[in-house]
Amino acid sequence: EMSPQERAFQERINASIKVEPKDWMPEGYRKTLIRQISQHAHSEYVGMLPEANWISRAPTLQRKAILMAKVQDEAGHGLYLYSAVETLGVTRDDTYLDLLSGKAKYSSIFNYPTLTWADIGAIGWLVDGSAIVNQVPICRCSYGPYARAMVRVCKEESFHQRQGFEIMHTLSRGTAAQKAMAQDALNRWWWPSIAMHGPADDQSVNSAQSMAWKIKSQTNDALRQKFIDQTVPQAEFLGLTIPDPDLKWNEERGHYDYGPIDWEDFFNVVRGKGPCNQERLAARNKAWNEGAWFREAMQAYADQQEQTEEL
Ligand code: ACO
Repeated sequence: EMSPQERAFQERINASIKVEPKDWMPEGYRKTLIRQISQHAHSEYVGMLPEANWISRAPTLQRKAILMAKVQDEAGHGLYLYSAVETLGVTRDDTYLDLLSGKAKYSSIFNYPTLTWADIGAIGWLVDGSAIVNQVPICRCSYGPYARAMVRVCKEESFHQRQGFEIMHTLSRGTAAQKAMAQDALNRWWWPSIAMHGPADDQSVNSAQSMAWKIKSQTNDALRQKFIDQTVPQAEFLGLTIPDPDLKWNEERGHYDYGPIDWEDFFNVVRGKGPCNQERLAARNKAWNEGAWFREAMQAYADQQEQTEEL
């Protein structure tokens, strides 16, 4: 049963009035936002790694400059999101330490390796493509700071998606070996990209409550379908084949039907047993440890400034 306070809160949500940091909110709402926004921040931050792997080997200077800008954008997204999560009463350090200890989740998608240059194309096209489909509705979510952070994130993601598609386009019009490289990247990234939308609706424990609170506005399966429907014609335009023999336009539904997702693989990755989970966390721990001297120096400087001001 809802308390009068909770009922009033829900009524504001229903009327699409944004919730701001100092407003009263149910503990469950706060916890759900901390969980989702921190996972989202961690995903941006860990997501820098698979692509950074190719900065030093990008095929041209221009490609290298674009990729560097893209990876820096991801760092920026992480920063907005860590700031958004701090408005809910948790510290950035604690949030971040949960990532480093392996306690916090981050997106499954960043635990797969980037084996060739075409993977950078496939990630932009498919992973950032999925991210946009997921994040555009979050621009309208009920929590103000999260909604506002998503506006700029989505603009940058759409540039990322275009640059990925353009890499795939160039490769698929290139030599037979380049086209094969693009196809191989699509083969490896397709299934993880559609699984990354999260468990099927009947397995998605958080969806119903998050939708009632307008943190989510569409279910995992609905967003997955939207991504598939928009991506199939793009693959056809590239002359590449999506690795799903069951993929077929369904006239009645007005959507593409698709084959079964390997949920065992997905949950394995979520539980930390994917191909790169250990490597990703090790890289983030290393960066944190190697940055300790810098944080200490910043603190010492801040303390000194404070003392000078007191004099
Ligand atoms: N990778 C890892 N964990 C996942 C994934 C995934 N792809 N999808 C779902 N999960 C986890 C959920 O976090 C949840 O775990 P928890 O309860 O321990 O926190 C569990 O699986 C069950 O899933 P749901 O009940 O469906 O969870 P939720 O309602 O939070 O929906 C979703 C998951 C769609 C990812 C949602 O949290 C969301 O929209 N997040 C914001 C976007 C985001 O984080 N994107 C990250 C990748 S995009 C990148 O930006 C570059």
